[in-house]
Amino acid sequence: MEGKRKHKKAPIIIGVVAVIVIAAGAGFWVWHEQPSFCNAICHEPMDAYVEGYYEDSSQMSYAHQVEDVTCLQCHEPKLDEQIHEAVVWVNGSYEMGEDNMLSTVGVRADANMCATSGCHGMNEVVAATQDWGGEEGVNPHDSHQGYALDCSSCHTAHGQSYMYCNTCHDYAVPEGWAEPVSTTAKTA
Ligand code: HEC
Ligand code: HEC
Ligand code: HEC
Repeated sequence: MEGKRKHKKAPIIIGVVAVIVIAAGAGFWVWHEQPSFCNAICHEPMDAYVEGYYEDSSQMSYAHQVEDVTCLQCHEPKLDEQIHEAVVWVNGSYEMGEDNMLSTVGVRADANMCATSGCHGMNEVVAATQDWGGEEGVNPHDSHQGYALDCSSCHTAHGQSYMYCNTCHDYAVPEGWAEPVSTTAKTA
């Protein structure tokens, strides 16, 4: 019985792959580039991400949407990952949080994702936050924590960003960002 239940999924997976292969010849890749593709089939878990991208002006993904940056310009599609996603989706083996977002986040924004040609130049990014909050020598983009520290340490694409430095310091926090609760006594 166990084996039989498992096998029931196989035709569905084969079906999904077959649809993808057939559709590939029919402009599928053009459709695939559109943000609407992401939740056309996969309402769960994609709806909240697509909604935030179009409607929640507090989100970094929205700020990119306004500049016509598509989902796939950040999420560079890789065939193996997409097949993995399709299988996980068919099996339903993912968990959603109360915010209707995936509970386990595997993607991280780093210099490879963000500081690429046509997107952000690190020189400009560093210059934009020099003497942060009017404090000389303070720069979230260039500190003893590192130059081009993983952007996800602070910036969240589909939610609230987080002033990582304030785990220890008491620097200015941009409007709408979360301020971490210090576990140690704060320094200057
Ligand atoms: C500006 C770049 C950017 C854009 C545009 C963007 N994302 Fe994301 N996405 C990220 C980053 C960074 C994360 C990691 C979590 C976070 O920061 O919210 C992420 C996480 C996700 C996740 C969770 C994935 C996982 O494995 O944890 C999904 C699903 C997702 N994005 C879907 C979308 C969809 C759908 C769109 C378009 C409607 C989109 N994203 C647009 C950068 C982006
Ligand atoms: C330690 C926290 C932190 C990290 C890590 C971080 N940032 Fe930032 N970033 C900030 C803060 C704070 C701002 C100012 C936001 C504001 O004023 O609303 C900012 C602003 C920006 C801006 C807007 C600059 C402008 O012109 O106003 C860009 C672009 C940016 N960051 C890119 C990046 C990239 C790319 C990375 C990763 C390589 C990164 N950030 C990593 C904290 C961080
Ligand atoms: C894990 C804790 C921790 C984190 C996170 C952290 N710092 Fe620090 N930082 C320190 C400590 C400890 C010192 C030394 C403080 C001292 O001697 O007064 C320091 C010193 C500094 C100094 C030298 C000036 C001063 O206040 O003494 C600057 C500037 C600074 N940090 C910026 C940052 C920035 C920007 C970030 C975020 C990217 C950051 N720090 C994240 C712990 C931290």
